[in-house]
Amino acid sequence: MQIFIDSGNLEEIKEILDYGLLDGVTTNPSLIKKEVENLKNSAKTTLGSYIKQILKITKGKRVSLEVVGKNYNEMIKEGLALYKKFNPISKNIYIKIPIDPCLEDVCSTEADGIKAIKFLSSKKIPVNCTLIFTPEQAFLAAKAGAKIVSPFAGREDDYIREMASINFNKKDYFPKKGIKKLNKLLSDNGIVSGVDLITQCKTLFKIQKITCEILAASIRSPRQFREVALAGADIVTMPYDVIKSLLRHHKTSEGMRQFTHDLTPEYENLVKK
Ligand code: G3P
Repeated sequence: MQIFIDSGNLEEIKEILDYGLLDGVTTNPSLIKKEVENLKNSAKTTLGSYIKQILKITKGKRVSLEVVGKNYNEMIKEGLALYKKFNPISKNIYIKIPIDPCLEDVCSTEADGIKAIKFLSSKKIPVNCTLIFTPEQAFLAAKAGAKIVSPFAGREDDYIREMASINFNKKDYFPKKGIKKLNKLLSDNGIVSGVDLITQCKTLFKIQKITCEILAASIRSPRQFREVALAGADIVTMPYDVIKSLLRHHKTSEGMRQFTHDLTPEYENLVKK
């Protein structure tokens, strides 16, 4: 399973790259917005040159950049432009296309995501199809040619709780088997949790022999990372703080303190010589 960082921040990416375990980077307009705000204090750096710096340090690892258009023509124009501008630097750019670019629940351009995936894929531009919330969306994206589909686990959990008017904090653990309210298992049309969304996408792809990779996105905690990994995600993308917390455990630190306390000069000499 590959590990990506979900960030547009150069320093965060650099630090995690230094672990030697990072396989790629995902960005989205919200993550880029944060960096644009930081860049306002630096007169010299433009957003374009900032992204180029990210591509240089990631040295050919997969980096996803998202379009912002809301219809087919805008999305393919932006996808081609992003690819032309940035792919020569890292040779591994993925264009992120939303499965359905509509801002409303019902609109006439809902198939434009699929059409844009088909067009860009026909030009051999790899697509990461984003904002996936059902296995059927994932299936159609893959059939249109997407190389990666990105189901949003954390936001699926948010949605199930929002529909049931449950107060929650985004980092609160949400059980993979779902939760009950008034003795009834809550679900989003048969999906009982974000981890279940990943599991169902994986099962569908396996049964239908689809080779498109499943990238588990919107990961909020180490436990959710563990569960989507066990569900068979091909890639997991996580924010910087979640990646950092994967290594921490109270008993690990306690054990280190104990071993340090018990160190005898004889053993220290033996080890250090
Ligand atoms: O990769 C998608 C991600 O950026 C969304 O995460 O935590 O805002 O739902 P989140």
